[in-house]
Amino acid sequence: MSTHTVVRPKKLRGEIIAPGDKSVSHRAAMLNAIAHGTATVTNYAPGNDCAATVNILRMLGIDIERTPAKGQGGDTVIVHGRGSEALHEPDDILYAGGSGTTMRLMSGILAGRPFMSVLTGDETIRVRPMDRILKPLGQMGALVHGRAGGRLPPIVFSGGQIKGIEYSMPVASAQLKSCLVLAGLRATEPTVLHQPAESRDHTERMMRAMGGNIRTDGLTVTVVPGDLHAVDVPVPGDISSAAFWIVAGLIHPDAELLVRNVGINPTRAGVIDALRLMGADLRYDNERDVAGEPVADIIVKSSHLHGAHIGGDLVPLLIDEIPVLAIAAAMAEGRTEFTDVVELRVKETDRIAATVDWMTSAGVIVESTKDTMVVHGAGHIRGGEYKSYSDHRMAMSLAVAGLVSDTPVTVMNSEAAAKSYPGFWDDMERFGLLAG
Ligand code: S3P
Repeated sequence: MSTHTVVRPKKLRGEIIAPGDKSVSHRAAMLNAIAHGTATVTNYAPGNDCAATVNILRMLGIDIERTPAKGQGGDTVIVHGRGSEALHEPDDILYAGGSGTTMRLMSGILAGRPFMSVLTGDETIRVRPMDRILKPLGQMGALVHGRAGGRLPPIVFSGGQIKGIEYSMPVASAQLKSCLVLAGLRATEPTVLHQPAESRDHTERMMRAMGGNIRTDGLTVTVVPGDLHAVDVPVPGDISSAAFWIVAGLIHPDAELLVRNVGINPTRAGVIDALRLMGADLRYDNERDVAGEPVADIIVKSSHLHGAHIGGDLVPLLIDEIPVLAIAAAMAEGRTEFTDVVELRVKETDRIAATVDWMTSAGVIVESTKDTMVVHGAGHIRGGEYKSYSDHRMAMSLAVAGLVSDTPVTVMNSEAAAKSYPGFWDDMERFGLLAG
């Protein structure tokens, strides 16, 4: 177990390069693995989650080379796809580690294959709901079983014949959508998905770039079965990782930060919209399009934030950023109300319970119900020792709290950050923000 102690700096100035986007990296590896041709994926996300995806694809017979980054930027991953039918039966259990995206997207790839496979993960994954994918995959004709009556991993896939379905998704989840789109690619007819609200659309964008027949019409996504062709993917920086620095720059009283190369796809950039609602001084520079994904450098300055209501259709567009937004809310003037956030209860940890727990110890008034959380901003956070709940985003959020708290914040189990941002503590060190 590692711990890191964060101390409040007098000034916070400088440049950060956000690590490669986790969601885009998973998709770049998986979609190219079932496509025809060789693709080069640059700035592949560095964390454990995306490594699990590569390992699993290799166990299914895909030839993947991974070369470490030279200097800054993530690794290069070369994927040699031979079409969807080239996957073969793995000779052991497939291990997703703590990665929900690997679990759920790989399930779409494994469902209905003419071979048996078993997919599982670590103790955080083995309590996360899988019925949301297993039910529709079963309706599509896949033979799938999960522990606890189909609710939890491990999941066993044992063949079946995939047919297209029309399906109303009960939750606005990009993992569910992508799982069904991936299965739908090999169905006997089109699959039509109705979403309750928009969620990240990296799968749809990338598939289109690969020649896939996938249409989006409002909240409806239709995928027509067919082949994909390999495409090179320069992975943009992860806005979910950038968010820690963005919030740090806004809440620290003497800060100006430039966060370079951040993916600002509108289905991911809800955190920017929310912070602007709260009065953030934040602007995009050097906006560009990188292989179908919008990217910008983001400049943030110390801001006087005020409370806001963050709910409804905005929530899926910032779902991973709520733990750090709660810190912005604690430092803001007035109440910030997060509504429709029940999905936070089934992330790496129950992020509503975790936030209420540590913030209460830190002297912040927070109330919650099953699907809401209200933070009473007082502009004050008490330092101390807080656990990370073995959740990467909780660990990094606590570090941000330490940049403004009255005494230092010690983050227990700080190694959790490596899931998506293994260089996080090095970046903190580089800025001189760690004790000792
Ligand atoms: C992800 C989708 C989100 C997000 C997760 C990554 C993805 O999960 O929380 O970190 O890459 O599709 P849900 O789609 O289940 O909300």
